[in-house]
Amino acid sequence: MNKTTAAITAVGGYVPEFVLSNKILETMVDTNDEWITSRTGIKERRVLKDSDKGTSYLAIKAAEDLIEKSGIDPSEIDLVILATATPDLPVAATGVYVATEIGAVNAFAYDLQAACSGFLYAMSTATAYIESGRYKKVLVIGADKMSSIIDYTDRTTCIIFGDGAGAVLFEPNHEGLGLQDEILRSDGSGREFLKISAGGSLIPATAQTVADKQHYVYQDGKTVFKFAVTNMADVSAKIMERNNLTNEDVNWLVPHQANRRIIDATASRMGLDDSKVLMNIQRYGNTTSATLPLLLNDFEKRFKKGDNLIFASFGGGFTWGSIYLKWAYNS
Ligand code: UT7
Repeated sequence: MNKTTAAITAVGGYVPEFVLSNKILETMVDTNDEWITSRTGIKERRVLKDSDKGTSYLAIKAAEDLIEKSGIDPSEIDLVILATATPDLPVAATGVYVATEIGAVNAFAYDLQAACSGFLYAMSTATAYIESGRYKKVLVIGADKMSSIIDYTDRTTCIIFGDGAGAVLFEPNHEGLGLQDEILRSDGSGREFLKISAGGSLIPATAQTVADKQHYVYQDGKTVFKFAVTNMADVSAKIMERNNLTNEDVNWLVPHQANRRIIDATASRMGLDDSKVLMNIQRYGNTTSATLPLLLNDFEKRFKKGDNLIFASFGGGFTWGSIYLKWAYNS
């Protein structure tokens, strides 16, 4: 029997209905459509307005979309990994609730937190389980309700982030398709540049931390940008080199959607022209753990069996990496 690899066999996605456009943001903070578009590439993002719904709602919707489109029986799922930076509750993993709600009654589940690289890392984890033969169906979801941790009076962050969720199913493959290689990196010196300061064990929540707005995302955008541009491009170029892939061989770049300029720099370093670079940042902004699976969901119909996809991400922590995956089916 050929070696067992881990392939993506189904995708799903969900974004909430409410569209927060640059025009609306102009009425909320001192910003303008021209600045946001030229500096980030974002035109609008989605926001989950219902105050009684958390990230689990987005994740369940994305998983249900995948289940409906693929026709899989949720009771056959072995494991659900939810990549998120915005769990419903600080304790009681959100993935567990999601698994139960979607009818994955025979699965165990947990959350994985690595900021914007959470989904990329979860792809690696799912692959290890499948390649080892331990599990056969691993559902990986990336979901974030970023609006729950964004200060909508802070123009440096509120223009960037949006809410959304995407899901993929990993299954064993014996044709050599699926995940081929990965380069995953992290650097803890980055945590001061992109973080939520309070609400964890280091600085528990108090009335003062709330008054000081320490429960919102803080980002030193310039510093994060510099690290992101260099590191995302470096690992993407390296994974091509290591696998003897030329720019002709790469069919699609699936990059984290944080800033159009970071994506362009990565694509240029890889020698790819725009037609191979997947982008939906203009419609969703940065949905953190959801950017990569939402791209797969939006562009699924364009992929052909055997296509070479290069995933790349960079996020808080710092965390970053690149994955080389061969697409396993025609839609
Ligand atoms: O996904 C996780 C990883 N995150 C990232 O990869 C994000 C990386 N960083 C970025 O994408 C960019 O740094 C930002 C989009 C956050 C900011 O863009 P920038 O080109 O780095 O802008 P800047 O922070 O250097 O600010 C330039 C100017 C400043 O004014 P002065 O000092 O030059 O007068 C800012 O005050 O733009 C001003 N500015 C704004 N103006 C209008 C900052 N935010 C805004 C705004 N609207 N929303």
